[in-house]
Formats: sequence, C-alpha cells, structure tokens
Amino acid sequence: MNLVSTVLFLAILVFTFAADVVNIPLFAVQGPEERFMVIVDKKKELSAQKKPPQVKIRCLKNAEYNAYITIGTPPQLFNVILDTGSADLWIPSVHCPKSNLPYQSHRKYNGTSSTSYKYVGEAISINYEFASVTGYLSEDTVTIAGKPVRGQVFIEAMHQSDALSQNVADGVLGLGFSTLSVAKTPTIIDNMVEQNLLAAPVFSFYLNRKATIGSESMLTLGGTNPAFYKGDFTFIDVSRAKFWQLQMDRVKVGNRADFYCKQGCPAIVDSGSSVIIGPMEETNDLNKRLGGWEVPQIPGMFTISCSGKTRRPKIEFIFNGKSFSLSGEEYIMKVHNICVSLIAGRNYPNGTTPYWVLGTPFMRTYYTQFDQNNLRVGFAKANHENRMFK
Ligand SMILES: *[C@@H]1O[C@H](CO)[C@@H](O)[C@H](O)[C@H]1NC(C)=O
Ligand SMILES: *[C@@H]1O[C@H](CO)[C@@H](O)[C@H](O)[C@H]1NC(C)=O
Repeated sequence: MNLVSTVLFLAILVFTFAADVVNIPLFAVQGPEERFMVIVDKKKELSAQKKPPQVKIRCLKNAEYNAYITIGTPPQLFNVILDTGSADLWIPSVHCPKSNLPYQSHRKYNGTSSTSYKYVGEAISINYEFASVTGYLSEDTVTIAGKPVRGQVFIEAMHQSDALSQNVADGVLGLGFSTLSVAKTPTIIDNMVEQNLLAAPVFSFYLNRKATIGSESMLTLGGTNPAFYKGDFTFIDVSRAKFWQLQMDRVKVGNRADFYCKQGCPAIVDSGSSVIIGPMEETNDLNKRLGGWEVPQIPGMFTISCSGKTRRPKIEFIFNGKSFSLSGEEYIMKVHNICVSLIAGRNYPNGTTPYWVLGTPFMRTYYTQFDQNNLRVGFAKANHENRMFK
C-alpha cells in the first residue's frame, strides 16, 4: 500500500522542481523502444530456459521500477510496478469510463477478448495515501517471466485517482503476503508455488539506477541470481507476515552516539517506495543534521547541497546487531542540479506504531531475497559491476 503513494511522493517532488526550476518533462510516455525491449526480453527468455525465471525490471526516472506481464489468451501486454508493499494485482479495465484521466494514458484489459477470462465481479477498492483505485475482481491467466499462472484473480480498475496518470506503469503487481491482499486472494507468488512454477517460494530483486540496455534491474523468481550480489546473505526473520516486516534494532548516522529508532522498531522492505521513510520528527532531525532544507510544499522531504559529497556520513540500518549502511551517494539522488535526500518523513496517526520503510534506495544497495517459506529476508551487497543478464 505504501508503494504507489511513495512513488508518487517522489514523483510529485520531482515534478515541483521541474516546474519551478528546470522545466523538463520527467514522465516519459511509453515509446517504440519499450516495445522493442519486450521483443528483446522474449528472445532472452527463450535462450535462458535452464535458469530460474527472471523478469527484467526497468527503472524509470530512478523512481519507478516496473516490468512487463501479460494477461489473457491471447496475451494482452501490461506494464506493472513490482511492489513488495502490497499484495493485489490491478490493471485498468477497458470498461473504465474514458473520462478517467489515468485511463487515457494506460493500457486496458479486455476480458471479452480473452478465452481464459473468468467472471468474478466482486467490487473492491484500494486506498493509498495519495490515491485510490476502485474496480471489480476478474480471473485470468497471468504470464510473468514466460510462466503462465492460471486462475489469477486481479482487480480490473474502473476508476483511478487522477494522480495515477503520472505513473508510467499501467498497474501494480503486489508481492506482499496474501494476508495483506485487499481482495483476500492468493498472490501471484502463492499461485506460482501452488502450480509448481517455482523451485522455491523465494524471489529476489536486483535494482540499479540506470535504465539502459545491459544494465537492467532484475527480479528472479524461485531463487537468487549470484551474478547480481557479492558475498553471503544475512537473513533476518519476518516479524509479521503481512508486509515484509522486520524488527530493526536502530538507525545510526555517522559516528554520532545517539540513534533513531532507539528502542527498536518495525521496518518494512518495500520495492514500491522510491524513498526510505521514517517517522517525521526523526527524519527531519536527520535531514537537518545533514544540512538539508525542507521542501515547503512537501513536509518531510529535504533537498541537500550537491557539494560536500565526501563529508556525508554513512547511515546504518541495524538488524540483529548487523549493520547495513548506505553512503551519501546511495541516500542522495541528483535530479538535474538539485540533490534530494532519499530519506523522507511521514506522520503516523496517534496510537499506531511508527515504522520505517526501506524502499528502493536501500534495495539498490542490498540485493534482497524474499523467502516466503522460511519467513525471512536475505540481504547481500548488490553487485553493480556485473550488470549483464547472463
Ligand atoms: C473487447 O474485445 C471484444 C472482443 O474482441 C470486442 O468486441 C470489444 O469491442 C472490445 N471492447 C472494447 C471496449 O474495446
Ligand atoms: C496526537 O497527539 C498529539 C500529542 O499528544 C496531540 O497534540 C494531537 O492533537 C494528537 N492528534 C490527534 C489527531 O489526535
């Protein structure tokens, strides 16, 4: 659930700067080269039969990580955000009113033209922090990494809030636990396991910032791909199987003696969030100490001077006494001439436990395996030197 909202969070920020300062359009419309890449993907898939199924992920504007799937027979192509922070699949419906803004810029699913379509019809709505999607359930074959997953229930979106028209992706593919599913239906991973399409109920993400051919990010299904990480995995148990939630010991900045998340706190690993999020009072303090300025229109979001790179402290996220650190280059992103802190704040309602969200800035640094069988997450240093799909 965090996913889309936080992708938008950064998208809105970048957009604001674009309007104020540089005036460059930041949201690409899908073009012929992307269609071409699907063909390239298909060829590579055919020549990689022995490997675990892998999905090439494209990183757009360093904020949105998405991949192609198809739904139906014959296949209808869609671009989806791969989101470990939610657990439903939704796609715009061809029956959505044309007046709905996001409808106009995205692909639409037409069940009538699919022989494997099955009616379900139950109405459903998903509320994100800054957006919502309403629609109804349908069932069809969803193909990911060349693997057809039969009987996948998903949401045909009949209305999306206008903000979602800025997403390049047509929809969202949730990779959280089915206990998080709004539709209360098995996730695509559950169905793949059930249908023996995976060697193990494990999937792993390699994310990088570049979007050029040969440097793609990659989702590996059923295992890990050693080409994309260095050293060994450190495993941390899932503390609550809904989100990919872990218990974090604390957050440490440079050599400072005081910590954030002092008493320990929940942290969720979220591929759908383009920033790392913590409680506003803590992240504001952290960003101010880094010399940042809060963006007036966006509480909790900070810009930072682009000079003084070498003086930036490392930020350590500590689990089971083991430290996972990010360098300045990893937690600050340059957008044209502006440097943005990728650590943002959020206010949590009174009476709820504040948690941290380890979004893509963390997952770019640490190759992450999500192990649904052993209920644990494994982190290993991402290998950015070895980017080619082998
Ligand atoms: C959906 O597909 C059917 C069968 O191909 C077609 O007749 C119909 O016009 C399509 N619906 C829309 C709204 O495009
Ligand atoms: C939450 O708690 C703070 C401090 O106790 C209080 O000032 C604020 O009004 C509360 N907010 C709500 C929505 O209850």
